[in-house]
Order: sequence, then structure tokens, then C-alpha cells
Amino acid sequence: MAKERIDKIIASMGRWSRREVKGLVREGLVLLNGQPAASPEEKVEAETAEIIVAGEPLRYRRFTYLMLHKPAGLLSATEDSRQRTVMELLPEDLRRRGLFPVGRLDRDTEGLLLLTNDGDLAHRLLTPKNHVDKVYRALLDAPLTGEDAAAFAAGIKLGDGQRCLPASLRVGEDPREGFVTLHEGKFHQIKRMFLSRGKTVLYLKRLSMGGLSLDQKLGKGEYRYLTEEEVTKLREKAGICE
Ligand code: URA
Repeated sequence: MAKERIDKIIASMGRWSRREVKGLVREGLVLLNGQPAASPEEKVEAETAEIIVAGEPLRYRRFTYLMLHKPAGLLSATEDSRQRTVMELLPEDLRRRGLFPVGRLDRDTEGLLLLTNDGDLAHRLLTPKNHVDKVYRALLDAPLTGEDAAAFAAGIKLGDGQRCLPASLRVGEDPREGFVTLHEGKFHQIKRMFLSRGKTVLYLKRLSMGGLSLDQKLGKGEYRYLTEEEVTKLREKAGICE
């Protein structure tokens, strides 16, 4: 296995930023195989090195998990011959890890996008049978009614005849604002669900997925690593027992 910088390995656990790790190394709080790490740039094999940070042994994680605040205007794809993708928001070293978006958000949709190279977890999060919640905030061109909410709860029939699973629609304080919870991900699903009710989505943002909310501290286009607890929570939601 290739060697990696120790600050990168520790920061990839999601608990400390690269800057914090540098400080911890300077203070002698990062032990590498029993000795204080000489510098944040020191390179080790993540899988075999024994790393202790501020007294806590680091558990090596094989995969990378990121939370991205997707801005409008970028495709949720790893590459595209004509259009810009969310991958350009990541630095080169992360782009080389084989990350991909967990499901797609439309080009004009904003909000929480998970990125990982853990294919098994991604697949389990997306399969409707695991009932992993995705919550969206939508702004419509017309006020929503209780009848819209009842139709969502009953399972909307889309324009092409496909039937959606029951979904929850909560009307916001502004009746043109709706909060939708889905357990599946058909193409343009929310826009098409509202269209079948005669309403057009003007703005759409994903707020959460699998109980994980978009971090309010992340500006549009920013990302961070998921913490150990967040990954464990996702794994539980996806039906993976530790
Ligand atoms: N539903 C949509 O219509 N678009 C999205 O981006 C996500 C869900």
C-alpha cells in the first residue's frame, strides 16, 4: 500500500481539520508507532501504522466519505465531456480516490450530496427497500394544499404512469414551500411529483439523507469528511451491522 502524509490520514477521519492536525503534531500529541510524529508531512502506510492522536488510537478506515454542499450549476457525476461536475470542487488527491456521488441531484438542485468510494454502502443507501430517508425543501410556483400532501402520502402517479412510493409532504409557513421526505430516487422525482399536481418546482435543495443533515457550516461548494459517528449512523440506516 502506498504511503500517505500523516496529516492527511488523520484529517480523513473527519474529526480534526488538516490545520488542527498540524497543531497537534507540533504539540507532540500525535504518536506514530510509539514516537511523536516528526512533522505533519511524515509519510506512513495508513493500514499498518499505529497512530495515536491526543491519547486516542486511530482506527484505520479503508474508504473515504465526504459531505458536500452541492451548488447549482454542476452535474452530480464523476466526469462529463461537456459539463462541469461536482468533482472539480475536490482537491487532486481526493479526486484520485475513485469517489462518486451517492445518487444524483439535478444540475440545478442544491444541498447535501454524499461522496464515497464505498460501493456497497452507496448501493444500500440508494435501494428503496432499505427506506433511507431523503428530505428536500422545494419552492413552488403555486400554494400547496392538504390535498397535495394527501396525494403524496397515497403515492403519486407520475406523468409516464409510474407509481411512487408513499412520501411525506409538509407545507411550510409560506404555502409555496414544501418539505418532502422520499425513500426512493426516480429521475427528477420531486419535480415530476409536483408536476403531476400541476405545480412547478422553482428551487430545490436536499437537506438530509439517512438522518444526516447538511452541515450548516458548509458554504455552497464546500465539503468535509464524515465523522466516525456519522459513518456508523449511515451504515446502520443502510442495514449494515458492525
Ligand atoms: N428530485 C428532483 O426532481 N431533483 C433532484 O435533484 C432530486 C430529487
